[in-house]
Amino acid sequence: MAITEQEVLNALKSVMDPDLNRDVVSLGFIKDMKIDGSTVSFKLELTTPACPLKAQLKAASEEAVRKISGVEEVVVDITSKVVPHRVEEKGDILPGVKNIVAISSGKGGVGKSTVSVNLAVALAKCGARVGLLDTDIYGPSIPIMMGVTDKPEIRGQKMVPIEKYGVSLMSLGFLVPEDTAVIWRGPMVMKAVEQLLTDVDWGDLDYMIIDLPPGTGDVQLTLVQKVPLSGAVIVTTPQDVALLDVVRGINMFRKVNVPILGIVENMSFFQCPHCGERTDIFSHGGGEAAAKKQEVPFLGELPIDPEIRVGGDSGRPIVVEDPKSPQSRIFMEIAGKLAAKVSSLSK
Ligand SMILES: Nc1ncnc2c1ncn2[C@@H]1O[C@H](COP(=O)(O)OP(=O)(O)OP(=O)(O)O)[C@@H](O)[C@H]1O
Ligand SMILES: [Mg+2]
Repeated sequence: MAITEQEVLNALKSVMDPDLNRDVVSLGFIKDMKIDGSTVSFKLELTTPACPLKAQLKAASEEAVRKISGVEEVVVDITSKVVPHRVEEKGDILPGVKNIVAISSGKGGVGKSTVSVNLAVALAKCGARVGLLDTDIYGPSIPIMMGVTDKPEIRGQKMVPIEKYGVSLMSLGFLVPEDTAVIWRGPMVMKAVEQLLTDVDWGDLDYMIIDLPPGTGDVQLTLVQKVPLSGAVIVTTPQDVALLDVVRGINMFRKVNVPILGIVENMSFFQCPHCGERTDIFSHGGGEAAAKKQEVPFLGELPIDPEIRVGGDSGRPIVVEDPKSPQSRIFMEIAGKLAAKVSSLSK
């Protein structure tokens, strides 16, 4: 008897996406089904190319369909279409950008820019269209970390972001003469940021990563109110003083109804390159404990590692320079978890 489309769909209803907690059929992931004799082929359209469960969902779908009697071959083509999640009333800003994620920290120097850069490149490596916006007026370090020395060109009336490592990059540093940045005040920063949002030809992006200035002052608050954020990531180091700032950061976003996508613990531990022994320099596990206590997701922990720092200084982020390293794998994993969290936001 010929295999029917309904039979295949029924079988696929047993395949769950654990992040979204629904099956792949009701999620609308199954597209372009073709049944040719004993061969069934279809597309599995995920909500992000950075899906950490790609391989698992593909295998589970193949297995489910292969159980149908008469099926000999199953061809699953994995694709993705990122779904937008944005604060609607701010709909006019950045219309082509589906998801805007702020990377924030209550405290300076915890590695926010390092995390922003590596996550942006990691998402781009998965095939997503990614923008990176550096709004840190007090130390626009992102161009250095991305190895960018050019200034953006103007085309028509708009600035064109600089393309590097598959990421479209803009920085406040491009607009501000280097040595005057520190005397800028809130309203001036906001004006410049607005320019970066509206006078830049960002095009269509799946994700825009925004590196915020450290802290929870006026500038930060105005920024998170102005930009139609999908959510925020909080970067911290593990020691208690930094963790107090995490709570402050979380509270700022809660106040303006921006979902917390998760906490990243940076400089979490040191792994000796010679003997492999692990030392918890700033203690350890505080980020995860804070995440539990605040009931927000924990996205992962990164080691304190010379290669991560060199990656920043040299303008070749570690996920570019040494993508197979354990550190890069952690960045890729965090990017995947982050993308999954964005996908599971309610619209
Ligand atoms: N996991 C890490 N291992 C080693 N060095 C790191 C790590 N993360 C960040 N660094 C280094 O620490 C310094 C501060 O990092 P970064 O600039 O990313 O922090 P930040 O939170 O953005 O700082 P600021 O608050 O000044 O914006 C940089 O020199 C960076 O290379
Ligand atoms: Mg920074």
